[in-house]
Amino acid sequence: MEFFVDTADLDEIRESYSWGIVNGVTTNPSLIKKAVDKLNASGSGQSIASYIESILQTAGEDPVSLEVIGATEEDMVRQGLFLYERFNPVAGNVVVKIPVNPDMEGQGRGAFDGLKAIKQLADRGIPVNVTLVFTPEQALLAAKAGAAYVSPFAGRIDDDLRKTAGLKFGKTDYYAEEGEADRHDNGIVSGVDLVSRCVDILGMQGYDCCKVLAASLRNPRQVRECALVGAQVATIPFDVLSAMASHKKTVEGMKAFTADIVPEYARLFD
Ligand code: G3P
Repeated sequence: MEFFVDTADLDEIRESYSWGIVNGVTTNPSLIKKAVDKLNASGSGQSIASYIESILQTAGEDPVSLEVIGATEEDMVRQGLFLYERFNPVAGNVVVKIPVNPDMEGQGRGAFDGLKAIKQLADRGIPVNVTLVFTPEQALLAAKAGAAYVSPFAGRIDDDLRKTAGLKFGKTDYYAEEGEADRHDNGIVSGVDLVSRCVDILGMQGYDCCKVLAASLRNPRQVRECALVGAQVATIPFDVLSAMASHKKTVEGMKAFTADIVPEYARLFD
C-alpha cells in the first residue's frame, strides 16, 4: 500500500518524507488554507505559488494532488490545465484533483460537470484524483471518466452515520462497521466499508488503472482496515501517520531492553 501524507503543511511534508515511508502528498483548499494561515503568521513572505513549488520539490517524483476551485466543467478544466501547466514542470508530479460532482444545490444541475472535466483532463494525459467520493457508484463513474485515483472519504461517511444514529463521537474516534439495518447509507455501513466496496467494484469491473485512494482517515485502525480491504493508497494526516508508529508496549520494551544493556555488549559498538 502506498502512503500519501494528507497535508499542505511543508514542515509536516518534510518531516514525514524524512521517515522514508511516504509516497505522495494530497492537498485540498481547506489544507491549503491552514498552511497559508501558518505561513502568514510566520511572516515569511513566501508566496503561495513558491510554497506549492517547495511541496512539489519535497515530494520529488511522487504524486502531489492539487485541487481546482471551480464548480463548472469549463472552470475546472481551465484550472486543471493551469495547475498542470504552471506546476508540473517543477518536478513532473502534479495530479489534478477534481470533485466527482460539483453540484452544490443538490438539484442535479451541473452534476456531471466533474465527470466531464475529468474526462477532458484525462484525455490530455493529465492524471486526475477524483475527490469527495461517497458511493461506489461515484467511484465507478469516475473510473469510467478516466480517473487515475478515486478518493472515498471514509471519516466523513462515519461522521454522517454516527450523526444520523445520534451517537456522540470525537473526530478521531474509531467507528466499527455495525451492519445494523438502520445504520447505513444506502447499504454502506462504514467508511471502511465504502473503501472496500470501491476496491471491489473497480477490481471486478477491470479498472486496474484507477487506484482507490482511501481519504478522510482519522485514526491508525482505519488505515489498517483500508489496507486489509486492498485499497492501493491511503492518504493519511500527519498526526495519524505519527500515531501509527506508537504502542505503549513498544515504549515499555525499549526501556526494559535499554536498562539491560551490559557494558561488555555496549563496548562492541565503540
Ligand atoms: O483526504 C481528505 C481529507 O483531507 C478530508 O479529511 O478529516 O477533513 O474529513 P477530513
